[in-house]
Amino acid sequence: MDTVIIREGQGNFDEKLLEAAEAIKDGKLVVFPTETVFGLGANALNDEACKDIYRAKGRPSDNPLIVHVSDMEMAFSLIREYDDRFIKLAKAFWQGPISFVLKKNHRVCETVSAGLDTVAIRMPNHPIALELIRSSGVPIAAPSANISGRPSPTRSEHVIFDLSSRVDYIICSDAFPIGLESTVLDLSSQDTVILRPGWVTAKMIEKKTGIKVKSHDANKEVSVPKSPGTKYKHYSPKAKVYMVDEDFLASDVDDFARSKSIDSKKTKLLTYENDVEMAKNLFADFRQADKDGFELILVKPVKDGDLLEANLNRLKKACEN
Ligand code: TXA
Ligand code: MG
Repeated sequence: MDTVIIREGQGNFDEKLLEAAEAIKDGKLVVFPTETVFGLGANALNDEACKDIYRAKGRPSDNPLIVHVSDMEMAFSLIREYDDRFIKLAKAFWQGPISFVLKKNHRVCETVSAGLDTVAIRMPNHPIALELIRSSGVPIAAPSANISGRPSPTRSEHVIFDLSSRVDYIICSDAFPIGLESTVLDLSSQDTVILRPGWVTAKMIEKKTGIKVKSHDANKEVSVPKSPGTKYKHYSPKAKVYMVDEDFLASDVDDFARSKSIDSKKTKLLTYENDVEMAKNLFADFRQADKDGFELILVKPVKDGDLLEANLNRLKKACEN
């Protein structure tokens, strides 16, 4: 398949964006930027188009997709029931990096929700994403735009590397994203539960809305996982990743590499100034280390800050230890 690559700042960008919006309406695949990571989008009301998302990514078919909307009316058009929590939370955090899981209605195609009775909805805070949704006139289902299992894409070059020739359009933007996928918050039952930690934390939710939030115990056995995506190994570069302690020094790299029978010259130690820097750069650093031919990546995580939980969640899923 020929992929049309569109770049923000290029002369005919607005015209090309409209063309991509038409393509979405017609059941095609479009990669677009959001404030978190790039998304691989298709019309959420078109079952065949959504199946193509899974094919393009090599994604397991039991892992449901987040649906992106441009306004509240579009969000309401997808759900069967909601309560005050949704209104309060949407007012406080949309447009923004949080997805709400709600009871879906019949308009949401089967493939989007992978057999669940719910749909995850997000209104992104990115002008290109919003314009794409508005111009196409339909809600856009979009997982992160990486080949399944690989680090989420936070730079244009990552999506071009993973998905060109697998999708119809790629919209490139250098507006620097948050770098970490949205918080996924379950509002489909009485308890308000974080299914995937992200930029918006339980503390922020409680402070802004007074709503008490529970954290999902991913290790607890349930017959149908609440958020199927959480059970797969994720975010992995080709190199093996290990998390090291706070007191790990650059001079310890040799010993660690030897203990794994890897040349220390093929070992990359990643350290970060603070939690925001780590979120912004972790996935990009994984990809760069692969590109540079490293075989072992050691990460010294930042042990405080609002993004601690989200950073550790992503890191642990990529790690061997
Ligand atoms: O920031 C983001 O959320 C990005 C951008 C593109 O919006 N998207 C993203 O999508 O990270 P994805 O597919 O990589 O992750 C979606 C997560 C998965 O863990 C999935 O299981 C969960 O959301 N999810 C989707 N629909 C759900 C539902 N109905 N119930 C529970 N979890 C759901
Ligand atoms: Mg993903």
